[in-house]
Amino acid sequence: MSDHPLIEQFTAAGQGQVFAHWNLLDPAARDTLLAEAAEIDLAEIARLTRMLLGGAAAQVDLSELSPAPYEKRPEHGGEAAAWARAKAEGEAALRAGRVAAFTVAGGQGTRLGYDGPKGTFPVTPVRGKTLFQVFAEKILAAGRHYGRPLHWFIMTSHQNHAATEAFFKENGFFGLAAERVHFFRQGRMPAVDFDGRILLESPGHIAMSPDGHGGSLRALERSGALDLMAREGIDTLSYFQVDNPLVRCIDPAFIGWHLLRGSEMSSKMVPKAYAGEKVGHFCQQRGKLVVVEYSDLPQAMQEETDAAGGLRYLAGSIAIHVLDREFVRRMACPAGAGEATLPFHRADKKIPTVDAAGQPVKPEKPNGVKFEMFVFDALPFARNPVVIETLRADDFSPVKNAEGVDSPATCRADQQRQFARWLRAHGAEVPVDATGLPACTIEVSPLFGYDEDTFAASWRKLSPPPPIAEGLCLE
Ligand code: UD1
Repeated sequence: MSDHPLIEQFTAAGQGQVFAHWNLLDPAARDTLLAEAAEIDLAEIARLTRMLLGGAAAQVDLSELSPAPYEKRPEHGGEAAAWARAKAEGEAALRAGRVAAFTVAGGQGTRLGYDGPKGTFPVTPVRGKTLFQVFAEKILAAGRHYGRPLHWFIMTSHQNHAATEAFFKENGFFGLAAERVHFFRQGRMPAVDFDGRILLESPGHIAMSPDGHGGSLRALERSGALDLMAREGIDTLSYFQVDNPLVRCIDPAFIGWHLLRGSEMSSKMVPKAYAGEKVGHFCQQRGKLVVVEYSDLPQAMQEETDAAGGLRYLAGSIAIHVLDREFVRRMACPAGAGEATLPFHRADKKIPTVDAAGQPVKPEKPNGVKFEMFVFDALPFARNPVVIETLRADDFSPVKNAEGVDSPATCRADQQRQFARWLRAHGAEVPVDATGLPACTIEVSPLFGYDEDTFAASWRKLSPPPPIAEGLCLE
């Protein structure tokens, strides 16, 4: 065994098994293994093992929890003038070039069963455009609309970084200027067994996985993205997930609420569709805004009703945020370096590994733990956080599962409902069923209209308007 200092450190920390097969590795494989080991903060792993795997593993604190307040949409009793002020403020920020788009796309997409970066998955009903193309065109169109092309930051993982970059290059960045599209990798964490011992994926590789979307805050700082933003005069990031093509990547009213309130991190909520919907819940706890995952909120609380008979914990998180640049910088400091640090969560998983002889083991039940950070855990650290209501039909229809809820089929139908709604609101005759689904398959390109306002402006210019027929695509 080599006396490399890293190996000594791992051995001293009780993690010597990482180098159990050292003697079988050629020099290049040894270098790779050492490089992986160098990514690991052993003190952090020891701390997480103590806190999350120990007998007294931390329970989610549900004390003094109450529903979080939120800004209601005008049609639900919110003040229309306040929404109009917010929209004007957001538009001014967009015209001033203060806003950039930010997509977290480092997830593994296991539930969808799709092999490749999730953003390369085709989603639109007629053209079969990919998630990335939909976002790119919305961002391109918004830049044109406000007369300031937007920067777009995309967080990838080690696994999908090269494929993501290649996909954009092959597709000419979907019309965006390549120098305004910035890819950077998120960090990784090693998986451990239930005793906190780091697992090997093969004799020469540590079982590493992405550190969760919360890792985006550290990754934005480490990659230099925050410095780039500062140089470009950008102080506001519009954050969304890669799985949701309905999202308004750039929503002036949302940005405006965030800016007018002096918020450091803002969020969109939708009223839950039913009590047990699998979303995070916006709550308040000792004066702080927190998100409690459905899996952590007892069923009785999920179902609790208020005096009017509505759900008390109504506000579901759809993982859409606006972030202040300097808040991200503050949250990005490593554990111990500042008062604000995102906690890690534990996820028990089946982790392919090797046995003592270096032979592959495919576990049938969870054999270890992955550690992940969640971006919404930054909310309690944010000054003046705002939650605003949005309509699900305007902002949320994710592709998560191959079939059933949140699948490509439900997402295609929701996109079509949106296109049909816009068309009908502006005078087109579009037959729809009771759920608003049009009888024929139609599509509206984001370059024609990326929200109802921009759609309406383009639609008015068409004379005569095209007949609504199977396969119509407005571009
Ligand atoms: C998430 C939220 C949930 C919310 C729902 C809305 C969590 C724990 N839950 O659920 O509160 O209601 O979305 O759709 O987040 N990602 C990375 N790196 C990672 C892990 C994930 O970039 O290491 C990205 C993914 O690419 C994706 C997004 O984060 O864009 C969501 O990840 P996912 O794990 O699928 O979240 P959900 O469990 O669906």
